[in-house]
Amino acid sequence: MMASDLPGDALTAFEFFAGGGLAGLGLEGFQVTFANDIDRAKASSWQANHAGAFHTGDVRDLTPEDLPGQPDLVWASSPCQDVSLAGTRGGLAARRSGTFWSFWQLMQALDREGRGPRAIVVENVVGLLTSGQGRDFPAICSALVQAGYRVGALEMDAALWLPQSRPRLFMVAFRDAEAPTGSHPAPPFHTPRLIAAHDRLPKPVRSAWAWWKVGPPSRPNLDIGALLEPDDAVQWLGPSDVGHLLELLAPLHRERLDAAQRSGERRVATGFRRVRTEGGVRVQRLELRFDGVAGCLRTPSGGSSRQYVLVCDDGRVRARRLTGREAARLMGLPDTYVLPKGETAALRLMGDAVAVPVVRTLTDALLRPALIRARIAA
Ligand SMILES: C[S@@+](CC[C@H](N)C(=O)[O-])C[C@H]1O[C@@H](n2cnc3c(N)ncnc32)[C@H](O)[C@@H]1O
Repeated sequence: MMASDLPGDALTAFEFFAGGGLAGLGLEGFQVTFANDIDRAKASSWQANHAGAFHTGDVRDLTPEDLPGQPDLVWASSPCQDVSLAGTRGGLAARRSGTFWSFWQLMQALDREGRGPRAIVVENVVGLLTSGQGRDFPAICSALVQAGYRVGALEMDAALWLPQSRPRLFMVAFRDAEAPTGSHPAPPFHTPRLIAAHDRLPKPVRSAWAWWKVGPPSRPNLDIGALLEPDDAVQWLGPSDVGHLLELLAPLHRERLDAAQRSGERRVATGFRRVRTEGGVRVQRLELRFDGVAGCLRTPSGGSSRQYVLVCDDGRVRARRLTGREAARLMGLPDTYVLPKGETAALRLMGDAVAVPVVRTLTDALLRPALIRARIAA
């Protein structure tokens, strides 16, 4: 269903933990009437790319008076550092990821005023399925169910749409709105670890569970090579830096690189530096992939979080850092998206964002049709 099917005002959405506003860009057919983030630099990026009201500040300081009207949908991409498998694993009880509960208190306050949304989407890393000693995922599902929502989740990897491996968890909840469901979990978005987490939920939550029906994209994703800047528009590392980098390759990765060089064809690899324990000793390694897909973008917090691009052609190897614009393309953004000045700021913005085509798929398959039907029926 299209937004033009709707009598009266457009569908509206609030975007919490909005960052650069990539969720809002995927919510086609919705007008974002409120967005919030604590980070001033991200607020500037949001404002450079969107019209509308942005509130810069801590979600913990927001009150219902800051929120305009009753939105159809609320989107929350709450911080992941404490639930990520690479993070502290303190879960939703920890300081950063615990901001989810401040967001949730606002939703409860809106509800008490009769302004609660018909749909809520909570996006986070897949580590949320097991974080907090397995208590976090049931806690969010229970909160949604107690508030009268029917809840389901999907694990969606951006790699189905874009050449970036980026699995993320999308918890989608509807109240007084019907979205298509299946009677059983179905691939590719109801993954074994999601099904296992569902099976551990308390019975009353499982009774309000829905296996939302969302199909995979019909068009295959692009190869990373198609998103790269022209070779003469980027800064390549000098020979000694390339040499140092290649010394970090583990034997298997060295073999892959040698094979690519021997092929004589142009081959593109992406890679990260990682610390591995080998024979009880911690060593730094450069790990490459040649499958046409970039590794998951991360927020730059040190040398190891910046992704490398290696190009083999004519038997030589060149290496460089992935650029901010390339990172934006890997999130599904058009080149008209205004990036902050400076590579670190651009990569920081992209590193914890949500991939736009994934949001668009959820919007087309579930959110917009269900909410238009609910508005027409109301
Ligand atoms: C996972 S990112 C979401 C990014 C966003 N979805 C995007 O596409 O750019 C989490 C965001 O929460 C913001 N954040 C962290 N703590 C916050 C707080 N206490 N109040 C409001 N926002 C906060 C961070 O600045 C970050 O932009």
